[in-house]
Amino acid sequence: MEALRIITEEHQNLWRVATTLDLVADEIDAGSKVEAAFFSSVFDYIEQFMDLAHHAKEDEFLFRLLRQRSTAAAAILDRLQAEHVNGPELLRDLRARLGATAGGGDSNAAFTTALRHYTQGLKGHIRSEEKDAIPLAREVLTAADWVEIDRAFLDNEDPLFGGKARAEFRQLFHRIASLAPESVGLGAHSAGELQPGLLSVAGDTLLAVNGLESCYGRIKALKGIDMEVRKGELVALVGANGAGKTTFLRALSGVQAASAGRIIFDGEDISRLRADLRMRRGICHSPEGRQVFGPLSIEDNLRLGAYTQPKAQVEGDLERIFSMFPVLKEKRALPAGTLSGGQQQMLAIGRALMGRPKMLLLDEPSMGLAPLLVEEVFNVVKALKAQGMTIILAEQNAFAALAIADRGYVLETGQVTLSGSGQDLISNEQVRAAYLGM
Ligand SMILES: Nc1ncnc2c1ncn2[C@@H]1O[C@H](COP(=O)(O)OP(=O)(O)O)[C@@H](O)[C@H]1O
Ligand SMILES: [Mg+2]
Repeated sequence: MEALRIITEEHQNLWRVATTLDLVADEIDAGSKVEAAFFSSVFDYIEQFMDLAHHAKEDEFLFRLLRQRSTAAAAILDRLQAEHVNGPELLRDLRARLGATAGGGDSNAAFTTALRHYTQGLKGHIRSEEKDAIPLAREVLTAADWVEIDRAFLDNEDPLFGGKARAEFRQLFHRIASLAPESVGLGAHSAGELQPGLLSVAGDTLLAVNGLESCYGRIKALKGIDMEVRKGELVALVGANGAGKTTFLRALSGVQAASAGRIIFDGEDISRLRADLRMRRGICHSPEGRQVFGPLSIEDNLRLGAYTQPKAQVEGDLERIFSMFPVLKEKRALPAGTLSGGQQQMLAIGRALMGRPKMLLLDEPSMGLAPLLVEEVFNVVKALKAQGMTIILAEQNAFAALAIADRGYVLETGQVTLSGSGQDLISNEQVRAAYLGM
């Protein structure tokens, strides 16, 4: 029944998109502009993803077999399949209304009314599939049926549903998230469309920190930190505001002096090395508060991240970053200051990646972002991890960080008070009480 897992996950994504549209409709009613580019991306996503792939697969396999196995199926499926057939037309109608509104012909209210009507239909459809069709399928389909359905849903060569097609949908989804208004959220964090790093292979030690101390004047902000990070690990560093997370990352990248302790990176003692030389060795830092250079173009901001790198590789790396963050490519010539907060965060991560990190330091990448964008940022972190990158992720957003981390460290007033696997820390009572508000 792998197919059901996939269908349910896709429903969750569509539900989030519908919820986003509702929230944006509220904003428009309250006086915001109608952003045509945003809506076009959403409609593209729904059209390509739902009408071409999701529904087609359900009709062809799940629903066909359901009708064969149960006489009760018709009553449920007739309506659902009629809605599948109608979907593209509803969307065409909505696009026409968007055009009329953007062109000034229609009032914004006419558009938001149509939009809400559409999202209600979409949610009703998803609800009925989950409430009626899926339980019936669980009840009446045979093991052989499930083999056939699962094979169809898991077929990676499938031009519409295979891994490649899913990556394209993923890009569209990313575009929606990048274009969505900052204030909009999608609720809980994503189940993750990207390849999960199923097993974290415990590689060799990449970083070993012993007794690290650092001071601001007479105040000791780090009081002897010990930490180990293995190659390919994603390590979360969580703790309240003022715990010392930023100071620790700055001490690792060398922009903040250490007053005691040792940092061994990739077998070398770098404790006294200058920041640019640490960067050359592969420690790349996306700082707290993003700190992009507002007046410089997006492209130039990215190029700055590569200043320690040989020139020959920069163009290729730039294209790779642009393919990860299509919105940055579209806006490459614009000043970075014109980007939204979420886009600036992507830029800050992209800039750090231009340094070809062996170890990427991310300082509160979710800070100040709406939930939809937080999810996007964490998806990016997950994707980087899946590619084998070693990452230290400092976050006040402890739950989200621990949920994707291999291991975590809890920092309190400059000291490590707990460490363990991400899952162990999430279920630790002390952590739950102090950081997760549970
Ligand atoms: N520039 C600074 N000057 C003086 N004290 C600082 C400075 N930056 C941070 N601190 C202090 O160091 C401690 C750790 O801060 P920080 O590393 O920013 O924590 P976190 O990133 O976990 O919020 C806090 O007590 C903070 O007040
Ligand atoms: Mg901080």
